[in-house]
Formats: sequence, structure tokens, C-alpha cells
Amino acid sequence: MAPTGQLMSEHRLIERMVRLIQRELSRIQATKEAEPKFIEIAVDFFRVYTDFCHHGKEEHILFGELGVKPLLPEHKAMMEELIREHAFVRGVVKELLGAKERYEWGSDEALADINRTMSILSTFYPAHIEKEDKHFFPLSMEYFSQNERGQMLEAFRKFDSSLIHELYKERVLQLEQG
Ligand SMILES: [Fe+2]
Ligand SMILES: [Fe+2]
Repeated sequence: MAPTGQLMSEHRLIERMVRLIQRELSRIQATKEAEPKFIEIAVDFFRVYTDFCHHGKEEHILFGELGVKPLLPEHKAMMEELIREHAFVRGVVKELLGAKERYEWGSDEALADINRTMSILSTFYPAHIEKEDKHFFPLSMEYFSQNERGQMLEAFRKFDSSLIHELYKERVLQLEQG
């Protein structure tokens, strides 16, 4: 399997979460009530699975390795756009968490912010994923030999296996510094 095959299979799980977000949005629009527990689970998914684990492999390994290749300017521009999109969506997820907290404190505008940020997530990801699956991933693999692809898959495996340790080390550190 090419390393992008693994990233594409991770996209399939992100799409399932996006469908849940869309279902939750319709429910919120019908009831005018948000479900803080659902938002907490969704935010955790986007932060840990999507950003830390998935964007982490894209940015630190795939894009990192592409960075040392003689990339065509249009391919470099595409990669930079994907990185900007990761930063953008990180901000949206943070806003959603903030809106959920304000909602729990009884803020009137919080529901509109929950609606807005969840709507952005539900349209952002299908477009971002399509750009990667159909365009950037196939062309990016052309820069690597079979051997390099194998090494990248191994780097993905190492990244994933250290992830949970890094995550909880970070959480303990935050509490220690809190
Ligand atoms: Fe991405
Ligand atoms: Fe991706």
C-alpha cells in the first residue's frame, strides 16, 4: 500500500464524523438546542484523530519529505494551501469548543456560533479531502521511489505508535503547569 492509501483510509473515518456533524446540525436546527456532550466528542475527534494523528502525518512526514524534493511550483503552492487549510480548521474547532462552553453558561449567541462552526466543518472537510484524495496525493507519490514509499509507511507506523504516549505526556504536562 502507498502511504497515501493509509491517509485515504483515515479520510473515510473523518467523513463518517462529518456525516454525524451534519445529522447533529439538522437536529439543532429543528430543536434549537445543542448537545454539549456530542460537541465534546466531536472536538476531541477533530483535535486528536484528525489534527494530531492525521494532519500530523501529512504535515510532519509526507509534506516534510516532499519539502526536500524539487517540487514543481504549482505542487508546492498546493501543499502550502493544504497547510493553510489545516491551520484554518484548527481555529474553527477551537471556536466550536468556545461556543459550546458559552452555550453551557447560558449565552444567547452561542447557539448561532455552534451552528456556524459546525456548518463550516461539514463543508470544509469534504472539499479538503477531495483535494487530497483526487489531486494532491496521486501527484505527490510520483516524487517517491518504491523504497521511499515503504520507508514513509514505516515512519507513519512509528508516528502512530508514539502518538498516545505523546498525547498523555502533553496532558500531564499541562496539568503540572496549570
Ligand atoms: Fe489534510
Ligand atoms: Fe487528509
